Amino acid sequence: MQESLSQLEEKLKDLKSRREKVEKGGGAARIERQHKAGKMTARERIAAFFDPGTFVEIDAFVTHRAKEFGMDKVEAPGEGVVTGYGLVNGRAVCVAAQDFTVIGGSLGEMHAQKITKCMDLAARVGIPFVFLNDSGGARIQEGVDALKGYGEIFYRNVKYSGIIPQISVILGPCAGGAVYSPALTDFIFMVSGISNMFITGPQVIKAVTGEEVTVEQLGGAAVHNQVSGVAQFMAPDEKTCFDMVKTLLSYLPSNNQEDPPYVEPQDDPGRLEPSLREVVPVDPNKGYNMYDVINLMVDDGVFFEVARDFAANIITGFARLNGRVVGIVASQPQVKAGCLDIDASDKASRFVRFCDAFNIPLVTLVDVPGYLPGVDQEYGGIIRHGAKLLYAYSEATVPKVTVITRKAYGGAYIAMCSRHLGADMVFAFPTAEIAVMGPEGAANVVFKDEIAAAENPEEKRKEKIKEFRDVFANPYVAASRGYVDDVIDPQELRPKVIGALELTITKKPEVMPKKHGNMPV
Ligand code: HXC
Repeated sequence: MQESLSQLEEKLKDLKSRREKVEKGGGAARIERQHKAGKMTARERIAAFFDPGTFVEIDAFVTHRAKEFGMDKVEAPGEGVVTGYGLVNGRAVCVAAQDFTVIGGSLGEMHAQKITKCMDLAARVGIPFVFLNDSGGARIQEGVDALKGYGEIFYRNVKYSGIIPQISVILGPCAGGAVYSPALTDFIFMVSGISNMFITGPQVIKAVTGEEVTVEQLGGAAVHNQVSGVAQFMAPDEKTCFDMVKTLLSYLPSNNQEDPPYVEPQDDPGRLEPSLREVVPVDPNKGYNMYDVINLMVDDGVFFEVARDFAANIITGFARLNGRVVGIVASQPQVKAGCLDIDASDKASRFVRFCDAFNIPLVTLVDVPGYLPGVDQEYGGIIRHGAKLLYAYSEATVPKVTVITRKAYGGAYIAMCSRHLGADMVFAFPTAEIAVMGPEGAANVVFKDEIAAAENPEEKRKEKIKEFRDVFANPYVAASRGYVDDVIDPQELRPKVIGALELTITKKPEVMPKKHGNMPV
């Protein structure tokens, strides 16, 4: 008995020392280098992300089996990636955190296997998967086995898309084909100064095209949040970044079979908001800020925006209405007059599809004068990109409530979740103008000859614009056909939208059997 106890003690000592070795990662010098670069280590990140004491590591003792290029002598504690699960605000989440202190967080066969195993676990139990990227890319010494590893991650990103939320957090380099795992996930977070993503780096670009560019200019957090639209969130530091990821998770269900988390509301669902009568000006040429409308409508004025810095002519984000999560898509008349363009269409359609996949009802606030005119837009494929929004809204079977605050013209009126694309309830403010085009454009086309023949063409033009405005630039033509369900006093926005959502929550979507549609991309 005594003997077997001491044997166990030996084994426990061995286990402890093995674990300590793994937990030291690449060792003190490399950890110091990581800190000097302004970055946390993989384990520090995990500690900052999960509720204290809840993280459970798996596969700590996995090792590579590469032999070429001296790899038989290289020890890689933890294989350069820490994987496991834990609680975030009390809810289970799986994580893979690449450890840059171990062979630069490079991805070889077994490193990838740890990640894919963790992804499989997340999908099997139905919880989000969060991937903290910090890696030099494919482990060069492992050649095609590293490529296989990436391929198997991409395959799962796609397979589990729409089943569990997948979130990528870029906390160091993410280059070459490695960028395609984040690109296949639902959301990408980046941190200013430490994150970068690109297909080919500055040296290759210089050699091939002669362009000189820094890593930050090429693929930093600002570029991907503001210019390319690859990332949706930008944080000033890692700690803030993890807080943002946690906030995002608080709006999401753990998987597509669940509803998003309900929070007992403190805000009165019947709250009237008289200031909304002033926010949207009666004069159609005066601007206003759609954020004011959103903030006055949602529970406690709390709105969590997605892709704030990209295509600001459309606003997307999460909020709660009477405790239930909604996805909000809203025109922003302050930017490009709220026109739909290529980037806005891409941004909104991806958001709509995410909400639909994860049972999040959609509230759309419309003030759209049309698609943005221009040769750039046409050559860039606004037809193709704009079609995505029509597709996404038409395909979405979650409750869809639309409010037209002012302009809703032409194809853009249809695209912004009109009745015709399956909106369950459409409201309009009395300031709404729903028509094929604005009164100025319409008068110039319809009464062109009459205006030209008039004694005073300018007077005639004004007269015809007014005539057109009186007849068409209002919500009542659409309401008379039933395309708009009701014209509401703006102060009733919150209770009306909440009422419509409560009604449609039991909606049973009619889905015709098919493999999948062919969304324009
Ligand atoms: C093997 C790598 C590695 C890699 C870094 N290391 N990247 N080992 N394969 N891909 C090792 C380094 O040799 C070094 O080892 C340690 O990690 C830290 O790297 P440093 O270069 O010292 O760090 P730093 O100066 O911060 O530079 C980071 C870096 C650089 C910019 C990422 O390491 C780099 O350029 N790496 C190669 C990037 C690359 O070309 N990757 C392949 C991309 S193609 P020691 O022992 O000295 O500490 C790709 C294809 C994927 O990924 C395709 C998927 C479809």
